[in-house]
Amino acid sequence: MTFFAASQLDELAAFYAEHGYAVLRGLWDDEAMDAMELECVAAQHRLVDGDLPERYGTTVLIDDAVQNRFANYVTYATELLPDVRAAALHPVAQQAARRLVGEETWLLEATRFGVVYQDARPGRESSYTRIGWHSDWQSGPNLPIWPSAAFTIHVDGTSPANGFLRVVPGSHKWATPAPYRNVNGAIVPEGSPPAGGHTDEPAPFEMPLGFDFVPGEIALYCERGDLLFHDAYLWHSAARATDDDTKRRHIRGGWFSGDPAAATVEDFVKNAAR
Ligand SMILES: [Fe+2]
Repeated sequence: MTFFAASQLDELAAFYAEHGYAVLRGLWDDEAMDAMELECVAAQHRLVDGDLPERYGTTVLIDDAVQNRFANYVTYATELLPDVRAAALHPVAQQAARRLVGEETWLLEATRFGVVYQDARPGRESSYTRIGWHSDWQSGPNLPIWPSAAFTIHVDGTSPANGFLRVVPGSHKWATPAPYRNVNGAIVPEGSPPAGGHTDEPAPFEMPLGFDFVPGEIALYCERGDLLFHDAYLWHSAARATDDDTKRRHIRGGWFSGDPAAATVEDFVKNAAR
């Protein structure tokens, strides 16, 4: 089972340890999700209107002909949006995070983009629609902030129509190399260990650079209101939507271990494969 209730944190933690991901279902009702969605969409509009400081996102000019401006991200969202902050820090979400990362885990809010509202819609106004294979650890392999668990609160449920997450269950246990070679040509920071994972067992094959099929991968479909946790060592990617009139929006962030002062935005390695 992939989906767990607030009363099943033992089962959730056991499933997560084995597979590298688990979904907590039922923390927010429709009313709470509507409030979060309103807050996020309002901030997205304010960004486009130039009504928010640069810190909270970048707007991109996609189509010069129609001057079509759109914001895919609202960064440091918990600084702006009280409902989003309350959701990220929901007592059960915190309990789960402590089970998955450790008692001393902390929510990353003020550096490395903090908690981000992300709109990955496929329409032509959008500049973020999908992401290639990566582990989140590869975004900062030199930093003493791992292990960690990423979380995603789904504003929209996912499907082939609006895009979905692909994961390789169990890959969090493999010692996956830092991205010495990737499609963005990112430089691996000095001081990075050669590989990251929960065991020393090498990955059985190389991580593909883009979207190729990985043996054992699964599609992980979620519903609106689902809180997905995935391990920072887990191999994952996101498939682009097939229906251009859909939306795929979520709030994402991470629970980390180690030294909060070490999580700087300057050290962020962009692994994203477009
Ligand atoms: Fe990721």
